[in-house]
Amino acid sequence: MFKALVIESTGGTVSTSIQNLDDVRLPAGNVTIAVEYSTVNYKDGLVVTGAGGLVKQYPHVPGVDFAGTVIQSGDPTYKPGDKVILTGWRVGEVRWGGLSQKAAANAEWLVPLPSGLTTRQAMAIGTAGFTAMLAVIALEAHGLTPKSGEVLVTGAAGGVGSVATAILAKRGYQVVASTGRPETHEYLKRLGATTIIDRSGFADPAKRPLEGERWAACVDSVGGNTLARVLAQTKYGGSAAAVGLAGGSKLDHTVIPFLLRGVNLLGIDSVMCPMPRRVEAWHRLQSDLPLDLLEVMTIEARLDEVPRLAAEILQGQLRGRVVVDVNR
Ligand SMILES: NC(=O)c1ccc[n+]([C@@H]2O[C@H](COP(=O)([O-])OP(=O)(O)OC[C@H]3O[C@@H](n4cnc5c(N)ncnc54)[C@H](OP(=O)(O)O)[C@@H]3O)[C@@H](O)[C@H]2O)c1
Repeated sequence: MFKALVIESTGGTVSTSIQNLDDVRLPAGNVTIAVEYSTVNYKDGLVVTGAGGLVKQYPHVPGVDFAGTVIQSGDPTYKPGDKVILTGWRVGEVRWGGLSQKAAANAEWLVPLPSGLTTRQAMAIGTAGFTAMLAVIALEAHGLTPKSGEVLVTGAAGGVGSVATAILAKRGYQVVASTGRPETHEYLKRLGATTIIDRSGFADPAKRPLEGERWAACVDSVGGNTLARVLAQTKYGGSAAAVGLAGGSKLDHTVIPFLLRGVNLLGIDSVMCPMPRRVEAWHRLQSDLPLDLLEVMTIEARLDEVPRLAAEILQGQLRGRVVVDVNR
């Protein structure tokens, strides 16, 4: 038996409970993992509250990521006792996920836990932090260096934003953090932001296709008008990494910044990300993310606190990252 957060749906209304489940209910997968930690990401917020329509079959166990120890493996890549991480592959959406004491997965979805990280640290990073690292790698692959100028992070006090801020600062960039929450200013400075700006400056639709050039690059968690304004303000040859849609999924813009300023719009996907890039990103996280700052941005929660936290993340009320100890 194992304990899990279970979502059920009755007449279109979802409810959650902590249940003891039999091992036979684990989904198909050639590796069984004793989960130690999972997290609450924005997508978990959608799944747990039923807001996104992402789950097609109930009852469902959420949790788009987890880290733990292999109990049993039918694949030679892993043996009992190995520490592993899983993010993405639509686990926690179309398959049962990691907000559970046990999970089953296919070996090719797992990443060995990097030697410099604990399972708790890996999930404090979680999908959000892993995605922030993918964004920084993509920006640098498109020519960004600390000499390029200011790098904007939008939704800076959220999970992706906090990790992106800390990584960029550690790598020597001038980080401009955009947030709607004045109470997070000191926190963002501690993570390494050199300048803090209010997100309201990006809220209105772009009036012109080009505005004054300011940003060498951007890690954008917000989308919508924010991303449109960022593109209009990106310097010649600069790049914006589109990570999220916390402020909206519609992008109303012209192609002018691409044509006249050679601006790059880089799509960042963590879910189906190929394995070599995953391994590279986890490797880079060990050197590029200061672990003391990871602790500063992380709170720990129990499984029964997840429904409340899921609602709060959708309201933009959570700061940084939440790591869930599924055995507490
Ligand atoms: N592409 C991928 O593979 C991938 C992976 C992970 C996450 N994501 C996406 O990235 C986004 C961020 O995820 P997360 O886990 O970091 O969520 P999060 O912790 O809730 O962070 C989102 C932040 O966006 C800002 N925000 C929220 N609502 C807003 C609004 N209406 N207008 C402007 N800003 C708003 C808030 O920051 P401030 O309070 O600082 O303003 C909030 O903290 C989500 O859309 C998520 O789906 C994508």
